[in-house]
Amino acid sequence: MTAHPEIDESQLPERLEALPGIELIRRATAGMPAYLVGGAVRDLLLGLERADIDIAVESEVRPLAEALGGQMVEHDRFETAAVAVDDHEIDIARARAEEYERPGALPTVSPATIHEDLARRDFTINAMAVPLAGETELLDPHGGADDLRAGVLRVLHDLSFADDPTRALRAARYSARMDLGLDANTARLLRETDLATVSQDRITAELARIAGERHAARALELISEWGLLDLGTGPRLAAALERLFESSADWNEFASRDTAILLAVAPGEHPQRLRGRAAKLARHSPPASPAEIQVLAQDHVPEVLAIARVAGAPWLDEFVNRLRHVELEISGYDLVEAGVPQGPAIGRGLNAALAAKLDGRAAGHEDELRIALEAAR
Ligand code: CTP
Repeated sequence: MTAHPEIDESQLPERLEALPGIELIRRATAGMPAYLVGGAVRDLLLGLERADIDIAVESEVRPLAEALGGQMVEHDRFETAAVAVDDHEIDIARARAEEYERPGALPTVSPATIHEDLARRDFTINAMAVPLAGETELLDPHGGADDLRAGVLRVLHDLSFADDPTRALRAARYSARMDLGLDANTARLLRETDLATVSQDRITAELARIAGERHAARALELISEWGLLDLGTGPRLAAALERLFESSADWNEFASRDTAILLAVAPGEHPQRLRGRAAKLARHSPPASPAEIQVLAQDHVPEVLAIARVAGAPWLDEFVNRLRHVELEISGYDLVEAGVPQGPAIGRGLNAALAAKLDGRAAGHEDELRIALEAAR
C-alpha cells in the first residue's frame, strides 16, 4: 500500500492553472456551473499527468461541447459528450443522479447537482470536484483526499458494487495502479460481489481497460484473489507477458502487449479457442529446424504466439526476431515463367524454397528457383 502524505490541497490552484488546455476550458465554461471531476481531480492531487479531462456541468452538455469546438461525439442516454480539441480529450457529463433498477443493469439517470453527482460515484478518491469558475477549492464531501493520502480505496456506500458490479473490476484496476489498500468494509463488499448479472461484453470492456494498464497482471491477480472471476492461469500468463514486452523490442513490434494480455483472460468461446491454440503450441516439442518453427508459427495471430511464447515455447523468439523477416528472392511469377501452372503447385514450390532458405540450404536466386521447381513439379 502506498500512502501519499505529500498530497496538499493548497497546491490545487497552481496545478489547475498548469493543466494543459485549462485556458480553453475556462473560456468555454465562462458563466456555466462547470467542475473538474473524477479521475481528473484525483490525478491533479497526485500530481500525475493524464490524457483526458473530465468535466461535469449542472446544465446541458451541448452548449459547452460546442463552445469548446473541435470534434464532438455525443451520447444522449447519459447526456455526455467527448470533445477532442487541439491535443486535448475532454469528457463532459451533465451532473446526474443514478437509479439502479436491478443489479448489473445500466442506471436510469436524471439531472442533479454536483453534490448529488459526486454521491453516485464509485470510490471516494473519484468523488471529488473542483469548480472551474470562482475560487479554486476542493469539493470533497466523502473524504477522498484523506483516503488518497492514506492509500485507501473505499466505496461511498454499501450498495455500490450491488448497483454496478463492474466497479469491483475497477477496484482491482485502481488498487493495482496506485497500490491502494482496501478499507475493511470495501474488502468485505468486494468479496460478496456477484458478476453473474453483468454481460460478457461489459466484463470484456473492463478487462480491456485493465489490460492497458502498466500493472495489468497485478490487477488480474487481485480479481482472482477476491474471487470475482475465475481467470485460471490468466494472471500468471499476464505477468509473463508484461515481462516479455518490457524486455523485447521485437515482440513489441510484432504483437500488441495489451491485446495479448486481454486474450489471456477474456471470457467467451473465441478467446478460449485461441488460448487453446497457444497452449497446444506451448506443449509442442521444440522444433528441430528454423523451417519447422516457421511452419508452426505462420498460421497464428501474433498475440496467440505471444501467449504460447510465455507458456512454454521460447523457440518462438527465433520466429519473431529473425525468421519472420526472411523473404525469398524469387516470387510466384518466376515459377509461372518457368512453366509451372497457376494453382497450388506455386505455393508448394515457394514454401519449399522458403524452408530451404530458413535452414540455410538455399544461397540465392538460383538455388531458390531450383528447389521451388523441384517441389512444384
Ligand atoms: N464512475 C463510477 N462508476 C463506474 C464508472 C465510473 O462511479 N462504474 C465514475 C467515477 O467517479 C469515475 C468517473 O465516473 O471517476 C469517470 O469514469 P472513468 O472515465 O471510467 O474513470 P476515470 O475517473 O477517468 O479514471 P481513469 O481514466 O484514470 O481510469
